[in-house]
Amino acid sequence: MTRRRRIYEGKAKVLFEGPEPGTLVQYFKDDASAFNNQKKGVITGKGVLNNRISEYLMSRLSEIGVPTHFVRRLNMREQLVREVEIIPIELVVRNVAAGSLSQRFGIPEGTPLPRSIIEYYYKSDELHDPMVSEEHITAFGWAAPQDLDDMVALSLRVNDYLSGLFLGIGLKLVDFKLEFGRLWENEEMRIVLADEISPDNCRLWDVKTNEKLDKDRFRQDLGRVEEAYQEVARRLGILPEGGPSDVKGPKTIQ
Ligand code: TMP
Repeated sequence: MTRRRRIYEGKAKVLFEGPEPGTLVQYFKDDASAFNNQKKGVITGKGVLNNRISEYLMSRLSEIGVPTHFVRRLNMREQLVREVEIIPIELVVRNVAAGSLSQRFGIPEGTPLPRSIIEYYYKSDELHDPMVSEEHITAFGWAAPQDLDDMVALSLRVNDYLSGLFLGIGLKLVDFKLEFGRLWENEEMRIVLADEISPDNCRLWDVKTNEKLDKDRFRQDLGRVEEAYQEVARRLGILPEGGPSDVKGPKTIQ
């Protein structure tokens, strides 16, 4: 890491001042945390893989017209992103019951949901990211109704697109978390996808075996954590086997 101004340090990433105004450098660490930071650890190589996986997914989403903060990958652990004003809401999309939804409502993990469900959580470490409703979000001014409409519409497009993309490589997109930011251009504000999309914030299960290939392996001490992240990158065709130029693209499973 070169010396430059650190703007923000989170649990899995660091944001540095970017090379031009309005840009930031997003650095991916190997650090992992779960259960509101009560469990901490290191997943060796996670930062390198998440940098690549998020680059790949954000680029594909951008191609279908989903605006994102991603500009380009800079090196193994860093990517250049647009500086946005982060909306303090985590938006979770669920297709299959798992995690906190299974716990809260007593629905067995793996139960398909009758339709995709969207949940909102207020980003606050001190309050342990409480679940909130649209009413809370608009009443407390965390996002305007129009912002929220845009976030929901974008999340459903992301869900449709990524569900298909992952299914094509034999993975079920069980649920995932998105964050959004406000980007101003010529006095106009747009809501764009921010943060990252990786096995840190998605649940991905093998279609045939239901094997978990995401951060639940770390949360639940299932072992073979590094291998799970590698497997996702390998199936996406972005795990360079013969060096960085040996990237083939996704291999569709029949
Ligand atoms: P949950 O079942 O624990 O509520 O998680 C739902 C999805 O959101 C899962 O894919 C993991 C992701 N997630 C995050 O990325 N960050 C978080 O802080 C939490 C609680 C969940």
